[in-house]
Amino acid sequence: MLLKWKAFSSGPVNAIHPFILVLLGIVYVCIPATAIVAVPSSNCYTFDSDSHLVDFTHMVGTNFEYNEKGSISTDLVVQLCKDVQRRSQAGFIDFGRFTSPRSFLTGSKPVDYIQMFQNGDLAKCETTFEEMGRTAQVCSNFDVNIICGRCSNKVCKDEDGCICSISYDERMCRVVVELSIPCAKSGPRVFKGFTVGFHPRSSEVVYNGLTQLGFEQPHHGFSFPSEQIHVSLYLSAMSSLSVLVGQPTFRVNPTKGLGVMLTGSGANGAKPTVLSPTVLNVNWICEITRSSPYEVNVSIPVAGYDPIEFTLTKECGWF
Ligand SMILES: *[C@@H]1O[C@H](CO)[C@@H](O)[C@H](O)[C@H]1NC(C)=O
Repeated sequence: MLLKWKAFSSGPVNAIHPFILVLLGIVYVCIPATAIVAVPSSNCYTFDSDSHLVDFTHMVGTNFEYNEKGSISTDLVVQLCKDVQRRSQAGFIDFGRFTSPRSFLTGSKPVDYIQMFQNGDLAKCETTFEEMGRTAQVCSNFDVNIICGRCSNKVCKDEDGCICSISYDERMCRVVVELSIPCAKSGPRVFKGFTVGFHPRSSEVVYNGLTQLGFEQPHHGFSFPSEQIHVSLYLSAMSSLSVLVGQPTFRVNPTKGLGVMLTGSGANGAKPTVLSPTVLNVNWICEITRSSPYEVNVSIPVAGYDPIEFTLTKECGWF
């Protein structure tokens, strides 16, 4: 290295050798952009069979209609990640609601994903008749089986997708809808089940491997005050996968002015499980006051997955 440096600096003293500029350019381009695996902006997301995040936020509420010409003609409308409605000429309505990403499941071939619509009302599922109306059984639901690409039974004419078929299981009070849509590309590989929180059983910072709002980038509203000298984070992972969790690292921006040290079992690379979470103490000392806060990026490597990353915002306005 020294020899090379000597070779470069043998040129005119004040001029920067063009080759060094080229080198700097390469180094700059090569620094990997660390993208935090943040929770999507809507509840319309799921995971593929290999744990990659699949975000359908751009399709929330997209309508798919199906007209059944039976003895009574009915229309079924699926609004992705919102609800399912079934209407007949008599105006009767069956209804199911999408409530959370927990109802958006990974399917098994040929079904890619399953969206479950619950808390609804199915015509044939009343347990009791009351004067005020119908009371549906808890089991009432619509399952929408999502197939990425084409319907298995027919060619979908609409590029944006269509309902391929509907089947009714009246005994079980279930309606199964097969829907084909162009699916979103798979995102980062998410270490599902991993949590980071401020208490042993909480997950404010990372839930199910996804960095939560407030910790995916610097946020004033989520910042730690000047006088706070440490924060304890509790990490937990599915016990069978905890061996994959590595030792955390951190980066501070700006690099000077905030002294940061990680301690605790989590800092030493102890394996967190659900029953025994590890603790990661972030100790920070303000050395230089600043009007805007420092950002502390913590990265936890996970073998075979995108790393768990989150940003802690630290004020050093005064001390
Ligand atoms: C910290 O993470 C944020 C969000 O990904 C990124 O924009 C920022 O450049 C990172 N800062 C450092 C010092 O790594």
